[in-house]
Amino acid sequence: MKKVLVATEKPFAAIAVEGIRSVFEEAGYELALLESYTEKADLYAAVTDADALIIRSDKVTAEVIEAGKNLKIVVRAGAGYDNVDLTAATAKNVVVMNTPGQNSNAVAELAIGMMVYMARGMFNGKAGSELKGKSLGIHAYGNVGRLVGLIAKGFGMEVSAFDPFIDKSIIEADGVKVYDNVEDLYTNCQYISLHIPANEKTKESINYDLMMSMPEGATIVNTARKEVVSEDSLMKAMQERKDFKYLSDIAPNNATELLSSFEGRVYFTPKKMGAQTQEANVNAGIAAARQIVDFLEKGDETFKVN
Ligand code: 3PG
Repeated sequence: MKKVLVATEKPFAAIAVEGIRSVFEEAGYELALLESYTEKADLYAAVTDADALIIRSDKVTAEVIEAGKNLKIVVRAGAGYDNVDLTAATAKNVVVMNTPGQNSNAVAELAIGMMVYMARGMFNGKAGSELKGKSLGIHAYGNVGRLVGLIAKGFGMEVSAFDPFIDKSIIEADGVKVYDNVEDLYTNCQYISLHIPANEKTKESINYDLMMSMPEGATIVNTARKEVVSEDSLMKAMQERKDFKYLSDIAPNNATELLSSFEGRVYFTPKKMGAQTQEANVNAGIAAARQIVDFLEKGDETFKVN
């Protein structure tokens, strides 16, 4: 009997686990659950006899791949797979997949929610501002970026985007203005919503110059990855610009200093919340389970990323 391990430091909603369970019951697979674990050793032990692994932001290092002697596939139930050592997986013939689009709406709603929260002074009782009529720059127009644009248009924002990997006409068909370079996006947009993946090219790419070029009332909302923002630049920009605001779904490493120095201008979720809805958990979890069955039974490699 094939065995699948669902290893989630941040567990799925119970309803999503039920859905995953029923996909594997139907396939005749055994399901093992490792939730809220704190020790890497627990993951190494649990993965030993698993044929397949479902994870969220859990780190799948070379050690995890090595420990999974029977492992054939790892599915990251979500979009970003920067937490998986693709080289180690490929070296051991382990297929890695993600589930693109399945949790995007949850992340997009959080990005907009954060904008409202900051515009309204974090609900401090004083007169804040509205999103209507403000310029929003979407930095990367993938599944999440596109939904952020759609919702923002409903708010009456002026939506622009920069994404060198997506054909301009596709973005323009959504009624979104396209900038051909990243500098123009930042220079022209009061709000920036980040949706770039974390990789060697993007790490710390949101730098001082981009931050300083933004118009009055500059607000960056980061529901992507903390690593893409230069924390030194952020500190400097916040010091030099009294109007600059930063919100992030996961605290940066210098969060304590930022929070104490710039009260009311920074906000960080206590835990990564973007994909934390029942709907997103169900969609991503069940998609991951189905992708595993399709791969193990039919060799279907759709969504393979390595
Ligand atoms: C993703 O890449 O899909 C999101 O960052 C969600 O991550 P999570 O599953 O850890 O909440």
